[in-house]
Amino acid sequence: KRVLIAYSGGLDTSCILVWLIEQGYEVLAYMADLGQEEDFEAAKEKALKIGAKKVFIEDLRREFVEELIFPAIQANAIYENVYLLGTSLARPIIARRQIEIAIKENCQYVSHGCTGKGNDQVRFELAYYALKPDIKVIAPWRIREFYERFPGREALLVYAAEKGVPVVQTASKPWSTDENLFHISYEAGVLEDPNETPPKDMWKLTVDPEEAPNTPERITITFDKGIPTKVVNHNDGTTETDILNLFIYLNTLARRNGIGRIDIVENRFIGIKSRGCYETPGGTILRTAHIDLEGLVLDRQVRALRDQFVTPQFSQLLYNGQYFSPEREFLTASLLESQKSVNGEVKLKLYKGNVIVEGRKSDTEKLYDMDESSMSIQGGFTPDDSEGFIKIQSIRLKKWGKKFYSN
Ligand code: ARG
Ligand code: SIN
Repeated sequence: KRVLIAYSGGLDTSCILVWLIEQGYEVLAYMADLGQEEDFEAAKEKALKIGAKKVFIEDLRREFVEELIFPAIQANAIYENVYLLGTSLARPIIARRQIEIAIKENCQYVSHGCTGKGNDQVRFELAYYALKPDIKVIAPWRIREFYERFPGREALLVYAAEKGVPVVQTASKPWSTDENLFHISYEAGVLEDPNETPPKDMWKLTVDPEEAPNTPERITITFDKGIPTKVVNHNDGTTETDILNLFIYLNTLARRNGIGRIDIVENRFIGIKSRGCYETPGGTILRTAHIDLEGLVLDRQVRALRDQFVTPQFSQLLYNGQYFSPEREFLTASLLESQKSVNGEVKLKLYKGNVIVEGRKSDTEKLYDMDESSMSIQGGFTPDDSEGFIKIQSIRLKKWGKKFYSN
């Protein structure tokens, strides 16, 4: 019996790893590098030391940006009006490589350290089953024998000491995090009271907007079919064109200008409400820029359909863990079609937590006609025609309006 565990190096997955060995499994460990701050080598050492047969560390950052982050930007994806889906976006990428390694290494089982109350268990497992329908999943936090034996952190610490599992951080932070290139999440612990203001020192990826520089930074982002292809900083001339470097650079800019913090209570797929704080630095800049450019270059009806249908459905299915599904393929096709004209650039000012649009242009798209839109010249438009347009539009309203002011 061989199992491949999604390993983080932390207390939970280390204890799970050891517990799986105790249950008679041969355990292989897998870590996905999605750009989170992490000492992967130390974690690898640790996994080997506590009994993992092999450890795989996979750099998935580029595919994460290309396959999940950029499509989410193209879709203006957002959950419950505020959450930019940073954790949801990472799950398909993590799960897919886990399945690939499991197949290569002849593991009949995969395992993870998600709780039985959250979204992540659903996301990982729906992805596993979609990609390899006969895979067997071990979710210890849903196994009675496991969760009764380890009712809390104390029990895990005792077990770790007993089994010689090194415990790195003595005082762990009073909340739980999930980090990647796109975002970091903070949940649980002191945050469980939704009215408890997050401690100032919790935020990790951005400076406090109050402490951000007094001088704004001005940048231009270029898009090709809704995908960012270039970032230029006008303050110092920095230019980035590689998709990964460009995204990392946007994170740097957002970080020092205090951009991308939110604090919400959200509805988990399972039906439980949960308070979460998130930082999505670069993603917040890109979202603002992308939405703005669409105003200039996207056809009105395409935009309306995309907004009514693709954006909410795509966001929902990402949140609910249904990335590997026929409906996602259908939505992606429609999304790509909508982005054909999203070509051009947006000028932005970054200032104390704000992303302020200062201009946009497109050299290829012609939907915006300056003469036609002008208030000072005719530009080929016959204003007389608008009279008939309003007349017809008002037929119905005139009937309905008879009930007012008793004619
Ligand atoms: N509530 C967010 C979501 O469902 C964040 C989840 C964080 N996950 C974690 N394992 N800490 O996407
Ligand atoms: C977990 O429950 O493991 C983390 C939070 C979530 O998945 O929603």
